[in-house]
Amino acid sequence: MKNKWDELQQQLIESKYYYFHTDNGVLLNGDCLEVMKELPNKCIDLILTDPPYQYLKHKLDIPFDENGVFNELKRITNKNSSITLFGRGPAFYKWNVMLNDLGFKFKEELIWDKGQITSPTLPIGRIHETISIHQKGNKKINRIYIDKLEYDFNANEWHRLVDDMNRLINKLNKINDYDEFKEWLKGEYVKVYKRKHNIVNKMKKCKDRAYQTYKAYTRGILFKSIIRVNREHYKFKHPTQKPLKLMEYLLNVCSNKNDIILDCFGGSGTTLLACEKLNRKWIGIEIYEEYCEIAKQRLSGELNLKMELPLMLRKPIKAYRQFSKNL
Ligand SMILES: C[S@@+](CC[C@H](N)C(=O)[O-])C[C@H]1O[C@@H](n2cnc3c(N)ncnc32)[C@H](O)[C@@H]1O
Repeated sequence: MKNKWDELQQQLIESKYYYFHTDNGVLLNGDCLEVMKELPNKCIDLILTDPPYQYLKHKLDIPFDENGVFNELKRITNKNSSITLFGRGPAFYKWNVMLNDLGFKFKEELIWDKGQITSPTLPIGRIHETISIHQKGNKKINRIYIDKLEYDFNANEWHRLVDDMNRLINKLNKINDYDEFKEWLKGEYVKVYKRKHNIVNKMKKCKDRAYQTYKAYTRGILFKSIIRVNREHYKFKHPTQKPLKLMEYLLNVCSNKNDIILDCFGGSGTTLLACEKLNRKWIGIEIYEEYCEIAKQRLSGELNLKMELPLMLRKPIKAYRQFSKNL
């Protein structure tokens, strides 16, 4: 028996807007207001999209029928679903109010810290973009822990690694024996010695920063509302392309495996690629054929935009990962 996704996918493959598909998704080429009319009611679990912000004088910053599009988003999202969208300036605030008026509950605002100024002519050096999460019904936001090492490397926060290693080494130098080390690893208690005779006199709850550092590497760090991810300008195929890692974080926070995700302003397909990586079903819509083609190439692996770490860094990182796994 065909499941909900198979039926929907088949229907979209037969649509006049069809451009490309994988087992997990379908890319459609056209104006999203028209294309979304092909989608049945309540078929989408998450809309993750990056609409034209309507402030650039650029061919991509096409005004769209906001009422029409947002009403369609409401119709096609299921009863427990969410909408996560990027935005900027007046358009962003207007969209948030529109979604609120349509019955979506505002859940959170996130700041993407791009790490560098992207419009050097502005009086205030702008280094961020805003993202908001809206929810319908009981859709939950996931609590996620992210890989600290990967996060710091992606954010070019090299110095943190050195600080963390120093903190851990200082701590380990002060541990007296293997039993104590094992206790410390459990994170619950540490033995407190009487200074003079080296006799254990009590166990103390461990709150030291070294332990928190160790925990941050083994369990990961809690995803926070300000996310530092560098732009991927070396891999740009689209003028407003978002980093793949950022889209992966958002998917992990706002959706679950096998959820059906829609990006109705798909661009070069970054959301769709993240869905492929994280086992989500996806539907992408993009008005320009040239960007559909780039998305298709990225999704089919023809366009490998992944930048390799410089050779001199790969070995120490691998060694460190191995080391932290064995702790
Ligand atoms: C901000 S960009 C998205 C970039 C994307 N996040 C990426 O990483 O490549 C918005 C995209 O929406 C497309 N677009 C604009 N109006 C549209 C419409 N009415 N229907 C579908 N796509 C549209 C533009 O061509 C542009 O590629």
